[in-house]
Amino acid sequence: MPIVNTTEMFKKAYEGGYAIGAFNVNNMEIIQGITEGAKLENSPIVLQVSAGARKYAKHVYLMKMIEAAVADTDLPIAVHLDHGPDFETCKSCIDGGFSSVMIDGSHLSFEENIAVTKRVVEYAHDRGVTVEAELGRLAGVEDDVQVSAEDSSYTRPEEVEEFATRTGCDSLAIAIGTSHGAFKFTGEAHLRFDILEEVSKRLPGFPIVLHGASSVIPAYVDMINQFGGSMPGAQGVPETLLRQAAGMAVCKINIDSDLRLAFTGEIRKHFAEHPDHFDPRQYLTDARNGIRSMVQHKIVHVLGSNGKA
Ligand code: G3H
Ligand code: 13P
Ligand code: ZN
Repeated sequence: MPIVNTTEMFKKAYEGGYAIGAFNVNNMEIIQGITEGAKLENSPIVLQVSAGARKYAKHVYLMKMIEAAVADTDLPIAVHLDHGPDFETCKSCIDGGFSSVMIDGSHLSFEENIAVTKRVVEYAHDRGVTVEAELGRLAGVEDDVQVSAEDSSYTRPEEVEEFATRTGCDSLAIAIGTSHGAFKFTGEAHLRFDILEEVSKRLPGFPIVLHGASSVIPAYVDMINQFGGSMPGAQGVPETLLRQAAGMAVCKINIDSDLRLAFTGEIRKHFAEHPDHFDPRQYLTDARNGIRSMVQHKIVHVLGSNGKA
């Protein structure tokens, strides 16, 4: 099966009341762990690449490794630019073989966000590539940018119809209380399902995306802390809330921090148990297996996309 865009997978997810996991990739072991997990659960997935990941690993390396994973698994896999900062980066990813891009104009004015999104949509759609846009602003850390809670803002449902109509985007990321990174809530976790409901009433059948949706699973935080790390007060989005969102209009759920915790936790554990090891294949095998288990867990217990490939 060739690399696919997100149209079919989101349509089926919307109608089936489940969501597609969008997992961030930075190296071979992460790509292999994710796709092995998806294969075991027979699930479609989105592999997403941030500007930082392209800088770290180079576009061509990530693209070739993803092509290898697609050939190896024969699953429906979309290759997506995460948080595209501008038209040029989106164009470069489209020209370089991605099947989907996000243009993140969430920090711009409404009119500027529309203008840049529309420009990306025109270029992308001519080439069969789908486009995710964002309205509202999440708190947390994305790449090198830290957005404070005061600078974050919920999506305004009254803006979404005009935005979707004028831009022609294929999916929309909204801000309902999730945030990027491992420290999402200080008190009780709360998501604004009223905003999600109002958005989906105004855009019937339209795929909604949740960023900042790691659950920061305590077992992995404990693993990091047990083996020499220190992650005080980490708290993510409860899985029950994510499952609820997946049953509504949310078709794509973004997960990066939980993968980072699994990868790093397994490596810390490996060295604590085998201080004499120095062959990277030994500790990276554990890290890759940690990613695989995490992805299987997400697919079965959070996304509900198992058996949907
Ligand atoms: O939302 C951001 C993702 O977690 C990607 O993070 O830009 O540090 O690669 P990154
Ligand atoms: P987390 O930091 O919650 O994993 O969110 C990742 C994300 O939104 C990538 O775009
Ligand atoms: Zn994000």
